[in-house]
Amino acid sequence: MKHLISINQLTQTQLLDLLNLAKAIKAEPAKYSRALAGKSVVMLFEKPSLRTRVSFDIGINKLGGHCLYLDQQNGALGKRESVQDFASNLSCWADAIVARTFAHETVEGLAEYGSVPVINALSDRYHPCQALADYLSLAEKFDDLSKVKLAFVGDGNNVCQSLMYGAALLGATMTVICPPGHFPDGFEVQEARRIAKAHGGDIVLTSDVNDIAGHDAIYTDTWISMGDNTSLADIKAKFAPYQVNKALMEKAGASYFMHCLPAHRGVEVTDEVMDGEGSLILDQAENRMHVQNAVLVTLLG
Ligand code: CP
Ligand code: NVA
Repeated sequence: MKHLISINQLTQTQLLDLLNLAKAIKAEPAKYSRALAGKSVVMLFEKPSLRTRVSFDIGINKLGGHCLYLDQQNGALGKRESVQDFASNLSCWADAIVARTFAHETVEGLAEYGSVPVINALSDRYHPCQALADYLSLAEKFDDLSKVKLAFVGDGNNVCQSLMYGAALLGATMTVICPPGHFPDGFEVQEARRIAKAHGGDIVLTSDVNDIAGHDAIYTDTWISMGDNTSLADIKAKFAPYQVNKALMEKAGASYFMHCLPAHRGVEVTDEVMDGEGSLILDQAENRMHVQNAVLVTLLG
């Protein structure tokens, strides 16, 4: 494993090893407190962030490493300087690059032209660190991830696409419930189904919210992702039946609710569900740090 660009580039063993290492780091942090000693990680963010930025920064610190944050004030990627030059220069000093970009091709470019590991901290196509944290959170509730029935409801976006690849590699069957026209990308669905079938799982797509019945966990995300200029007024009516509220959770029979955050309370999810007993949102947020530390230790350790 040289980079973490997308979950579909991992093997099932690599995915399970990352989850197991994350559990070990979470259980015994002191054992890993020098794991990144002498290592410097640069974080390049073209978009805002709370969880990703803070969990990488504090996580790297807990591993004894050093982290440097560059926002767009330091030059938007590819504008003041080409992605190629950005990557080759950063590789002279940094031991790894963590990047949150608009275009997924920018993350790929950093990996192509740099000589150090690149970690995708969210692009328009994927959010692998999020999906890893989500499966770690589910692993803390269920012994066998291949048997977990996860339903993603809402916009078939970057988070959904990384979750599909995670389910596929784990051999689980995941249901993706989206309004017509808002499904994940066709290529990603085909690829996730191919991987799922090879591991005994499947990816089921539907627009019928009644298909939510019989799932263990319900996941939603914002209806409008960063970089998408759609106005809420234009899509609100279309998405309204897909709001995760108490009635939908009851229809699902699900014990757990998941959201990568930031959430729009009262839009894609109600307060009652967000703050309810089965909400895993803070487990997911905490596990971002542990799983990212597992990625860093694997790539740099
Ligand atoms: N879930 C997540 O990536 O949150 P941030 O956008 O705050 O980093
Ligand atoms: N789909 C969301 C995830 C935010 C963490 C976005 O890309 O904005």
